[in-house]
Amino acid sequence: MLLQTGNFLRLARAGYILAREGVFTSLDLNLLPPAAAPLVRIANLFAVGKGENAGAALVRALSQIGPSYVKLGQFLATRPDVVGGEIADALTALQDRMAPFGRAKAIDIVERSLGRKVDEIFLSFGEPVAAASVAQVHMATALYDGKPRKVAVKVLRPGVEGQFARDLRDMYMVARVAERWSSEGRRLRMIEVVDTLARTVKLETDFRLEAAAASEFAENVANDPDIKVPHVDWDRTAREVLTLEWIDGAPLSDLERVAAEGHDLKALGAHVLQSFLRHAMRDGFFHADMHQGNLFVDKQGRLVAIDFGIMGRLGEKERRFLAEILYGFITRDYRRVAEVHFEAGYVPAKHSIEEFSQALRAIGEPLHTVNASDISMARLLTLLFEVTALFDMRTRTELVLLQKTMVVAEGVARTLDPKLDIWKTCDPVVRGWIEENLGPKAKIEDAGKSIAELARLATHLPKTLADAEMAIERISRMADQGVDLSPHSIEAMAETRRHASNRLLLGLTALTLLAAWLFG
Ligand SMILES: Nc1ncnc2c1ncn2[C@@H]1O[C@H](COP(=O)(O)OP(=O)(O)O)[C@@H](O)[C@H]1O
Ligand SMILES: [Mg+2]
Repeated sequence: MLLQTGNFLRLARAGYILAREGVFTSLDLNLLPPAAAPLVRIANLFAVGKGENAGAALVRALSQIGPSYVKLGQFLATRPDVVGGEIADALTALQDRMAPFGRAKAIDIVERSLGRKVDEIFLSFGEPVAAASVAQVHMATALYDGKPRKVAVKVLRPGVEGQFARDLRDMYMVARVAERWSSEGRRLRMIEVVDTLARTVKLETDFRLEAAAASEFAENVANDPDIKVPHVDWDRTAREVLTLEWIDGAPLSDLERVAAEGHDLKALGAHVLQSFLRHAMRDGFFHADMHQGNLFVDKQGRLVAIDFGIMGRLGEKERRFLAEILYGFITRDYRRVAEVHFEAGYVPAKHSIEEFSQALRAIGEPLHTVNASDISMARLLTLLFEVTALFDMRTRTELVLLQKTMVVAEGVARTLDPKLDIWKTCDPVVRGWIEENLGPKAKIEDAGKSIAELARLATHLPKTLADAEMAIERISRMADQGVDLSPHSIEAMAETRRHASNRLLLGLTALTLLAAWLFG
């Protein structure tokens, strides 16, 4: 693990900036390893603004160290499990804006990537309209079926990959040293954090992947009337160039313009929140960077999303989990919310379901007494994660990203409609999903407890069947391999077989009864 001069100088500079901005002044020296305390004391001699908020200091420092560190900060904003809630919240203030690199340079990159002269690709190619650490965007026009149309051309910043690769190497080094020498470093799984950052950076610096995300997202929302996604022009897209249909709309960051164009701000607020939930729950694929700058409203009043560099995915299980917990909280069925956690295997079975639902009631009930405009679903999820941590639920990164995005989506929705009732707004989406996906079961629960029990068995049938199959397979494997049939193993086999067939039978009976009740 040789520390090379290059690494060392860059890290020393980063360390100096962190110290100067006062990031270390709020560290509790008693909690540090003995060898680190004097170093921190020395570092703090450089601090200019002492003793103020560590989060704000970190935001200032990261912006100065460089774009990769801004990305690191933005990424850590989604990991309160690593940096703590307060710092994670502060980090959401990181802005990723940089000076543009000029039109001529952009044209070079476009020509090199697409292998043609810019005049053969575009009718016109304008000055940059926006610039950030990874890319800048130009307005251009291109011919489609003989007709000129406006497009947005996103061009990768030159040298950005090398710079990210170099900074990531430095970060890996720090993470390795930290994991080797400090138990805190190991607890925070720092190498894994850098791994994830490296993957995110890879996704964000290959525009074919962003184009694919835009196209998948567009396909999912094709039949949703109130949201639109710009069309991808694959012929004018490569690793370093992304060409999208130009969006002629008002950005939600310019509310005056949105209002002046006569749009219904309240309806838009509801759309922002409902679409986000629908994408997460129905499609398991959501836009994870939903700030005002990435959302527009077009002439028809539709919400338009751009910038698909950061997307979130939820598996079947997480989607159902999300729908059921929201439904449970809306209907105040805390027992149900608790059960969902146990069923998903998120909370270990050793805990008491009654105690868990009691804890859930403690966070759920106040929501039904406060003012509608004070309720926050994101806050609810935060509290939920705090409670689940007490019951040994491990942080699930995909759910944390969802919760973080929800904070942003709610914020945008509330700026559009400060009185927005989050519960009422979400209710139809959540109910719709539940009815569509768990309908028969929901119906059965109304018909009484015993039938509900039956339905539960039927829902678990795939698992029961899988168990049974496994048991049967084990028995035949034992037979094949000719194990010695001691009285003990014969009895064990008989027991397994009895169990397996009993459960299989039980499951099938439940399913038959259920079908008879539903369709009979
Ligand atoms: N399809 C588009 N139509 C109109 N403007 C766009 C389009 N795509 C990007 N822009 C403009 O460029 C800016 C930056 O684009 P974005 O994809 O958000 O890049 P970044 O990842 O740097 O945030 C946007 O805020 C918007 O002003
Ligand atoms: Mg953006």
